[in-house]
Amino acid sequence: MAHGARPGDSQRLILGVETSCDDTCAALVTDEGEVLSNVVSSQGLAHAPFGGVVPEVASRHHLELIDAVIADALARAGAGLDDVRRVAVTQGPGLIGALLVGVSAAKALAAARGLPLTPVDHLHGHVVASTLQPDPIDLPYLVLVASGGHTFLARVEEPGSYTVLGQTLDDAAGEAFDKGARLLGLPYPGGPELDRLAQTGDPDAFSFPRAAPGDGLDFSFSGLKTALLYRLRDEPDANRADLAASYQRAIVEALTSRVEQALEREGLDRLALGGGVAANSELRGSARAMGVSVAVPPVDLCTDNAAMIAAAARFLEPVAYPGYLELDAAARLS
Ligand code: KG4
Ligand code: ZN
Repeated sequence: MAHGARPGDSQRLILGVETSCDDTCAALVTDEGEVLSNVVSSQGLAHAPFGGVVPEVASRHHLELIDAVIADALARAGAGLDDVRRVAVTQGPGLIGALLVGVSAAKALAAARGLPLTPVDHLHGHVVASTLQPDPIDLPYLVLVASGGHTFLARVEEPGSYTVLGQTLDDAAGEAFDKGARLLGLPYPGGPELDRLAQTGDPDAFSFPRAAPGDGLDFSFSGLKTALLYRLRDEPDANRADLAASYQRAIVEALTSRVEQALEREGLDRLALGGGVAANSELRGSARAMGVSVAVPPVDLCTDNAAMIAAAARFLEPVAYPGYLELDAAARLS
């Protein structure tokens, strides 16, 4: 029996479902934002031979896993479907075939039980991940979401919405980590590997561009990756750990310089990190050294998960049955 649940008590739970990329996720979260279960079935190994996510492979795996992942989330929460008061699902953005599996499963489950359904913007999920107990951040705050698919800065005044202040103009920060790692001969997904290798290298050994066009709050990482490519071509025997450390330093400084600018411009003194790149040891350390209050959710709430989708749904108006039967997954959301 999970914490917060008592035998015989009917609970008021939100079931979250997330299948926007290569992780099949389901979670049970209470109305108050307590996470009772957060199940992630990662497909990393299925995509590793291809060096990146293959959309068709992802859809097929979601289809095979989704029922078992939802059942596991209920079991781990010590709950049954009778305890679920509403269903929340990632509507987009993401891989359309992957999203469709989650949206169809969530619609079918909600319709069969006559429950309301809340369509959730995946990015909103990352934005509110830091509001989940036990360590919720106070409003208003600045959030940096940096993952393999997205990198943006947003101001959060109310948990039901967010205002994007800047975003990447090309690659996401996680993509820059993964592509750099690949150039350095590290296995996919390379971000964590590059992080590890960088800890043994000298971040000042090589100079890389700081990827900050103009004085707005946008990011750009494609030039950095090209710089690493040229460096390896010109100096094939360059020390790999020094290269990793210098390359990581450039990504982290590109992120933190924008964060500092945004905190100053917006007059904010609270920062939350989200997305898989928030697991990066140097980024975490640099954020904590900024002199503002910093909320970094545990790694399993930073990377893609369904608890953050259920958490976002707490602050959104649900759609009653049968209004959501027309709901479609959307690869892009406005
Ligand atoms: O949020 P996430 O799990 O999935 C997406 O929505 O993309 O983020 C995955 C990304 C990958 O690019 C991965 O390499 C990166 O986060 N990542 C890291 C670290 N751990 C994960 N990047 C740098 N350092 C890490 N320790
Ligand atoms: Zn994500």
